Amino acid sequence: MQVKKAVIPAAGMGTRFLPATKVQPKEMLPIVDVPTIQYVVEEAVRAGITEILIITGRSKRAIEDHFDKSVELEALLEQKGKNKELAEMQRISNLADIFYVRQKEALGLGHAVACARNFVGREPFAVLLGDDIVHAEIPVIGQLIDIYNKKSATVLGCQRVGFDNIQKYGAVDAEDFSEPVVQVRSLTEKPNPAEAKSDLAVLGRYVIDPEIFDILNVTPPGAGGEIQLTDALNLLARQQSVWAYSFEGRRYDVGDRLGYIEATIEYALRREDLAPQLKTFLKSLTF
Ligand code: UTP
Repeated sequence: MQVKKAVIPAAGMGTRFLPATKVQPKEMLPIVDVPTIQYVVEEAVRAGITEILIITGRSKRAIEDHFDKSVELEALLEQKGKNKELAEMQRISNLADIFYVRQKEALGLGHAVACARNFVGREPFAVLLGDDIVHAEIPVIGQLIDIYNKKSATVLGCQRVGFDNIQKYGAVDAEDFSEPVVQVRSLTEKPNPAEAKSDLAVLGRYVIDPEIFDILNVTPPGAGGEIQLTDALNLLARQQSVWAYSFEGRRYDVGDRLGYIEATIEYALRREDLAPQLKTFLKSLTF
């Protein structure tokens, strides 16, 4: 079945980025001049997704406003003859059919995904975390959809993160790690590095079969007292095949301060209008 729908959870509290995220959604933090979540929506659109559900919460209204038409701003830009900016604002408000549902309490990523049940129905669906961006030639979620189409089973976007970092992620256990696509034996959320079965981590991109919703309904709180998507996927892997795919691309966790700074610098260095001056500035720094 074709993957046409994507879910973008963006209701988390962003406690790693306080005080910036006290009133502002972390998904709206700009990487250069584009809000993080816009990169995520554009990745989904580039992969052929036509309907997107963003899971929001209180204090996240800026996300909805960003993808809406801004009548006053467009009138002002038109009046000032700023045609390039006007065209860009119109493009953003027409990117895709975007729907919203509120997660009433931030009870965890699994709980956020469960809020998408009515939107998804009985189809496979993509999940892209709203604070994770990936720079890649082929959109990562498109890479996962290709694998889904070959396997007809859930696919998790993964990369090796090193055993020093694995306790921040969901870790994969598999029979054999030699191929880019491996069958998942089990998953552990935030494992102790000494006990982790591998340093292959699930990193913010998924294509999931709809059977996950019945499992999420009965998934108890796990690591950090939150309902974890990883725990539900671990149960799914016992019922049907689940694949871990090592995707191609450079991934940034914008919800983490260092990840945010790295993303800002590298995205600016990829921009012709900024790179020359930024390089000069960076070279002038002495440590
Ligand atoms: P994170 O774990 O990075 O988000 O979740 P968080 O809970 O906001 O982070 P910190 O630790 O407090 O800084 C990954 C994604 O899942 C969403 C977040 O918005 C983020 O995009 N999320 C997380 C939800 O939508 N609901 C939740 O209950 C938790």
